[in-house]
Amino acid sequence: MLIALGVTGGIGAYKAVEVARGLQKRGHEVVAVMTPSATRFVGAITFEAITKRRVITDQFEPGANADIEHIALASTIDLLVIAPATANLIGKLANGIADDFLSTLYLATRAPVLIAPAMNTQMFAHEAVRRNLETLEARGVRFVDPGEGYLACGWIGKGRLAEPDDIVAAAEAILRPAGPLRDRRVLVTAGPTYEDFDPVRYIGNRSSGRMGFAIAAEAARRGAEVTLVAGPTTIETPAVNEVVRVRGATEMHRAVLARADRMHVVVMAAAVADYAPAERASRKLHKDDDTMTLVLKKTPDILADLGKRRAASSEGPLLVGFAAETEDVVAHATAKRARKHADLMVANDVSRSDAGFEVEDNAVTIVGPSGVESLPLQSKARVASAILDRVEQLLVRGVRL
Ligand code: CTP
Repeated sequence: MLIALGVTGGIGAYKAVEVARGLQKRGHEVVAVMTPSATRFVGAITFEAITKRRVITDQFEPGANADIEHIALASTIDLLVIAPATANLIGKLANGIADDFLSTLYLATRAPVLIAPAMNTQMFAHEAVRRNLETLEARGVRFVDPGEGYLACGWIGKGRLAEPDDIVAAAEAILRPAGPLRDRRVLVTAGPTYEDFDPVRYIGNRSSGRMGFAIAAEAARRGAEVTLVAGPTTIETPAVNEVVRVRGATEMHRAVLARADRMHVVVMAAAVADYAPAERASRKLHKDDDTMTLVLKKTPDILADLGKRRAASSEGPLLVGFAAETEDVVAHATAKRARKHADLMVANDVSRSDAGFEVEDNAVTIVGPSGVESLPLQSKARVASAILDRVEQLLVRGVRL
């Protein structure tokens, strides 16, 4: 979604940088619109670097036809967020004054508007400001209330800009459709596991965590309460409710099973090692012979354990498994789905070089209760969306909930 982030001249303007980052982490595009006084608190360059877009600071910038620009932006944005909003700006919006780009954009757009006011306590309590806020509220504008505490001006009371996370959550609540995943608890595993066999060596695999992270981000976007259990990865984690870092399969097993009972959905996107060294040497192993034998033993199968518990009691979370295959993809995935009692099994052909491990795209086949569906090669974000569409369909049909 495209969000215009309006920033006005208040001491909380620096927090708007975090709001921009938070919105981006949730997969949105952000265009920053700063009032001239906002630029005295934070430089436009900061927002430009973060949003990777030109920051709009002036209605009459030479070279850009301002009128066309604000009308174009007004009709393309999905949401206008203003954080912080000063008493002055709130007054202008309430009264239809359009003397800068931001106040003009407000009049020109039909997108929902979310305002996070920030000002001195006395100003916030003033009759003039209260009336303006009521006018805007009656018009359908949504608000994130300021917090209480020490204000930069020395007062103690209500007026401090709300926390960036709360502003991002309020924006999400407006944007996300009230679908079946809303307020459901979803656990997603992602990334590889590393199985140590001495203090410096491990057996790992090529999973980057991208697929699982994309699912976690998309589930959060749909309003789910998301727990991400991640193996060792280097990519940036999405904004979710809880991130649990683990290293080996046994640790992941423990982390997932400790939380699974309270989940509505568990997505096992992690590439969990099937075998781990039977022993872990306490000191680094030195090379003595020409060959070396490592004894491996099976790791606990997390998905199979969850499936077993549910097959026995017909309770527990809806299960989505992944099957990385190099041949007979559908046949193997179908067999795995039955063996592990998963509702959906997402199979990907890891022999392809343009999909699967370490790349941005994926081409998957989803095996579910109503058959087999092959999806075209597309971004992992889109694949995540397609998988969660199927999960939502199953939730609506009341499968095991
Ligand atoms: N999985 C798991 N715990 C393990 C191994 C795998 O939960 N110890 C999960 C993976 O996260 C994935 C699914 O099981 O969702 C498929 O894993 P895979 O290793 O391909 O399945 P196996 O049944 O072990 O089949 P194979 O014989 O192909 O290894």
